[in-house]
Amino acid sequence: MSDGPSPKPELFDQVVNLCKRRGFVFQSAEIYGGFRSTYDYGPVGVLMLRNVKEAWWRTMVQRRHDVVGLDASILGPPQIWEASGHLQNFTDPLVDCKECGQRFREDTLDDPGTCPNCESKDSFTEARNFNLMFKTQAGPVAGSGADAYLRPETAQGMFVNYANVQTSTRKKPPFGIAQIGKSFRNEITPGNFVFRTREFEQMEMEYFVPPDEADKWYKYWCNERLNWYIDLGISPDLLRLRPHEDDELSHYSTSTSDVEFLFPWGWGELEGIANRGDYDLKQHAQHSGKALDFYDQANEIRYVPYVIEPAAGATRTMMAFLMAAYDTDTVNDEERTVLRLHPSIAPFTVAVLPLSKKPQLMEPAKRLFSELAEHFNTDFDETQAIGRRYRRQDEIGTPYCVTFDFDSLDDDAVTIRDRDSMEQIRIPLTGVVQWLRDNL
Ligand code: GAP
Repeated sequence: MSDGPSPKPELFDQVVNLCKRRGFVFQSAEIYGGFRSTYDYGPVGVLMLRNVKEAWWRTMVQRRHDVVGLDASILGPPQIWEASGHLQNFTDPLVDCKECGQRFREDTLDDPGTCPNCESKDSFTEARNFNLMFKTQAGPVAGSGADAYLRPETAQGMFVNYANVQTSTRKKPPFGIAQIGKSFRNEITPGNFVFRTREFEQMEMEYFVPPDEADKWYKYWCNERLNWYIDLGISPDLLRLRPHEDDELSHYSTSTSDVEFLFPWGWGELEGIANRGDYDLKQHAQHSGKALDFYDQANEIRYVPYVIEPAAGATRTMMAFLMAAYDTDTVNDEERTVLRLHPSIAPFTVAVLPLSKKPQLMEPAKRLFSELAEHFNTDFDETQAIGRRYRRQDEIGTPYCVTFDFDSLDDDAVTIRDRDSMEQIRIPLTGVVQWLRDNL
């Protein structure tokens, strides 16, 4: 038995309610009754999601001389998905209950003889393979020539651009191509809030390496990726790296490990790190007739690079950060909810709170807001009593609040309050930007 932490089932509703109440995530098309499995990111959620993606981009692209970025199209022709194997293999086994008409993924049923919806026995149809890709038509003419697919992963855009990127940047393996963007899967059983949705965002990197270095780089990326979550504040107890069993491996992979997080319902995948071998480049070379290899001049050998792929979900990862950061404590006999988010992913870095709405405070407070907003995501809140405004900022994870009060007019100083310790200090108005830089 592991003596690590146990899942906290109550955390699920707590975080979902907070997301709606404070404007992180809304059900999509809510005024029309909602559109299942799609979500809209609200004013605070969009800031946090951008911060998560920027943190990933900084680590995976900006700080590395061996990785470049790409933004490939979402729509793609059938040839890409034929070559990648998705038309053939990207399927889940689907069964229908003949009594109630509900559909299920056969491999996720607890009891394959009983319908979980109406409890009928032996009421399922034979399983059939259901392809998870969304198919559409490109252009005004219907017909097979106009078929197109919404990408189910961002990865293929990087494989089909391998030669474009390699020749335009003159990179030599080992080097990577990274991309962040939306992917679409017609999941049979979406659920658990934004954990599994039909439209979601991925952050993927394809790292092209000499074949004999693949194992070394696979281990390297497993480590790097696990540490990324820890560096951004998730406790190591809530994370684990789980190697796949042979029968779990995707059709393209020789080894895969998942970074898993302890969600309220148990361990779940945040990211997969896969050794994809030379499968993708060889498939696209064969189907397109274009060479997708590398000539190593120093050693006078030509080879098809192997690919190590760290593939993460941005939306799912944001949810994990929210769950890991959710906390409550007691302040003046009242319960306080606080998101202990790492400052670099918190929606706002700082909030400016004028103590009163009187113009003599509002005007200089707005000037301070404008100064800070040049450097940080900054909120400005003049509504309600100061204590309630602090609670609101705690609930959305703002690390620092700056209060402009009547004394500020005389001493040109402001109060900075720390989200976690709730300690307050007074510092000169002109030093706020530098103080924040030093303390973040
Ligand atoms: N290119 C490999 C690939 O796409 P994947 O494990 O299917 O691998 C990578 O997806 C990550 O994308 C997952 O670890 C997860 O974080 C995210 N993801 C996949 N399907 C998702 C869904 N339906 N909803 C939300 N996130 C999803």
